[in-house]
Formats: sequence, structure tokens, C-alpha cells
Amino acid sequence: MYSRSIETVTIDLVDRSYPIEIGSALLDDPQSFAAVTGATTALIISNTTVAPLYAQRLKSALSPRYKHVHLVSLPDGEEHKNWQTLNLIFDALLEHKSDRKTVLFALGGGVVGDMTGFAAASYMRGVPFVQVPTTLLAQVDSSVGGKTAINHPLGKNMIGAFYQPVKVICDLDTLKTLPARELSAGLAEVIKYGPIADMAFLDWIEANLDALLARDPAALAHAVKRSCEIKAWVVGLDERESGLRAILNFGHTFGHAIEAGLGYGQWLHGEAVGCGMVMAAHLSHRLGLIDSALVNRLTTLIQRAGLPVVGPDLAAKSAPSKGKSPALGSSADNAGSYLDLMRVDKKAEAGEIKFVVIDGPGRAAVRSAPDALVREVINTCCTENAIK
Ligand code: NAD
Ligand code: GLY
Repeated sequence: MYSRSIETVTIDLVDRSYPIEIGSALLDDPQSFAAVTGATTALIISNTTVAPLYAQRLKSALSPRYKHVHLVSLPDGEEHKNWQTLNLIFDALLEHKSDRKTVLFALGGGVVGDMTGFAAASYMRGVPFVQVPTTLLAQVDSSVGGKTAINHPLGKNMIGAFYQPVKVICDLDTLKTLPARELSAGLAEVIKYGPIADMAFLDWIEANLDALLARDPAALAHAVKRSCEIKAWVVGLDERESGLRAILNFGHTFGHAIEAGLGYGQWLHGEAVGCGMVMAAHLSHRLGLIDSALVNRLTTLIQRAGLPVVGPDLAAKSAPSKGKSPALGSSADNAGSYLDLMRVDKKAEAGEIKFVVIDGPGRAAVRSAPDALVREVINTCCTENAIK
């Protein structure tokens, strides 16, 4: 049994501060939502996988507080994180004549959370929303901090807004139904916090990885809480990513290229980030910032977590694939394909790619690097050499 105690981590943003509640059986409990503004209408946004599992339970918990509780169930998958799917939320809001006090509830993983947040930011120029994340990845990262977005075929998460939820409810019980591959994907974002901010947490993850993979309740509770604490610290200092917050994108520059290059949904976001962290660690080493022991340590941990550590050949993906990025059209070789895609990363400035690197154990920095060096990293990491 999961512990019934509730842990709370606060995102401190003055008048937009909010709590992240972490615990068991929170989804069914009307108390979880008691402090959220009352309104006539609540709209639960979920997807075709999560809604049958949890929507009725959330609806029951919300019913004492809202006259109407509606549900919109989106198609499931990263390849649906786009305008067409976003519009289904607006269709539902307008069909139900939802007013500007309507509260949106994102019930699902990061895809549902990111799209619900963007819909909340723009419907009637802004309505409140609550995150009810049901994947490990969403509980440790995407539901927290107010980044909302949809993908564009030319780049991942390129259209969006910063818009904070009013509350985050992490019900650890929902992780019981998560497929093993998705649990591993979430572990990528947990591992991320170690090398960029907290080496003691990295030690803890190494020691407790088997317990995490076995879904030990206490281990999951600690991983979610510590991850949220680190993210809260970063977001509290730099909500809109004018500097520090970029460190949360460790592994993401390479990872986003993998996602867009293969076609959204081919590799899971967490898988692409896991492999991207191996690449970013190699780059940090080649820039003289860390020794090879740390690269090997991270690679071993990422592999133990069930994540890929050898990058895909994006040039080999020349056959048309659903959702594959048109940015790949011109490049013949693999490293060139990665570079093309990384030039549209949000951190890029005037076409110069910026990488989050490990700047010594437990510290991160944002750096540019010569294309030739990045090519060497990609060539190494797209062969078995990545794990030597
Ligand atoms: P996801 O939302 O696609 O969920 C993964 C899969 O698990 C889906 O098939 C989903 O239906 C299913 N699922 C969800 N909860 C379940 C449960 N409890 N039981 C069974 N199945 C369940 O993927 P994700 O990994 O949660 O999120 C990835 C997305 O998050 C990406 O789009 C990424 O860009 C985004 N992201 C955003 C931020 C941010 O700060 N906003 C941070 C990290 C990632
Ligand atoms: N996941 C990166 C961020 O929230 O900034």
C-alpha cells in the first residue's frame, strides 16, 4: 500500500504560487480540489487510454464542487500533440458554452498536460487549470512549471505559452497502471536532475533504481518529491527561462532532434531525452568539463533504467514516415540531420545551437560548440561506442 500521507512542494511565484500535492488516493478525494476556485463548469481533458481508467473517479471527486463536469477525450500519442487536437478542446469548451470561470483539469501524461495548459492559456485569454498527472514523467517534470505547448512538424514544442496551473495533484497510485516502457521514460527526467543539480540525488537513484523499476511506493514518492523540489527551485528563480531554467533541458537538444527526426511518437520523449543525455555527457567531456568516469556512470544508469543509449541514424530514416520533420529534407548524413534539426531548437540563437552541458558534477551550463565537435559526438553516440 502507498503511504496515505501527503507531501507538498510549493512553486513560489508570488501571486501565482501553487502547491504540488504528492500522495496516494488523491484523485478520488474531493479534498484534493477543495481549494480550487468553484465555478459552474469543469472540463476534464484526458485521452482515450487514461479516461477509461480514471476519468469517472476524477469526475466523482469534482462533482460536489461543480454543477457540470464534462469530459473531452483526445486521441492518444505524441503525434497528436498538434493544432487539430488542441482544437478539440476549444470545440468542447464552446459546445458546452463554457464561461471564463470554467476550470480545466488535465488528466493524463505530459501530452495531455501540455495541450490542456495551452488551451487554458488561450481560451477567453486565460482560464484556470489544474494538473492531474498520471505518468511518472508528468509527475516529476511536465505538470510543474507552466510550460505549455504543441509540436510543429519543423520543431518540438515550438508553439506554446508560459502559463501556470493553480494546483498539481500527483496521485502515485495512478503509476500502477503505467506500461513499463513509460515508467522508464519517466526515469529519464528523474535521472536528469542528478548531474545538473544534485549529485546526492544521483547516488540515491543509482542505489534505488531497482526499487523504482519495481514501483516501490516509498521509492516513487521520494523520486517525485525530490524531482519536484529541484524543479521548484529552478522555476522559482527563472520562470520564463531567461537563463537558469535552460538547465532543465539537459539532453533535450539532442533528444528533440531524435523525436522530430524519427517522427513524433516513434521514440518516447523520455527515451529520446535518455539517449540525448548520453550525447550531452559526451559533449561535456569533449569540452573538457567532466571526466569520462561520469560519462560512463550516467550511461550505465540510463541503460539500467531501460532506456536507449545508442542514437538512431536519422539519415537512414529517409523513407517518408508519419510526422517526420520536413527539416530533414536537405541533409545526406546522420550528423548533418541532427545539426539541421537542432538549429530550430528554442535555445538556438541566430542558428547557433546551444547545448546544456554538465559543468562539473551537479552543475550545468549552456554552451555553444563547434559543429565538428558535435559531429564527433553524434558519430560516437550513434554507434556502440556510446557505451564504451
Ligand atoms: P504521454 O502523455 O504520451 O503519456 C505516455 C503514455 O502513457 C500515453 O499513451 C498515455 O495515454 C499513457 N498513460 C498515461 N497515464 C497512464 C496511466 N496512469 N496508466 C496507463 N497509461 C497511462 O507522455 P509523457 O511521457 O507523460 O509526456 C511526454 C510529453 O511531455 C512530451 O510531449 C514532452 O514534450 C512533454 N514535456 C513537457 C514538459 C513541460 O515542462 N511542459 C516537460 C517534459 C516533457
Ligand atoms: N522541462 C523543462 C522545463 O520545464 O523547463
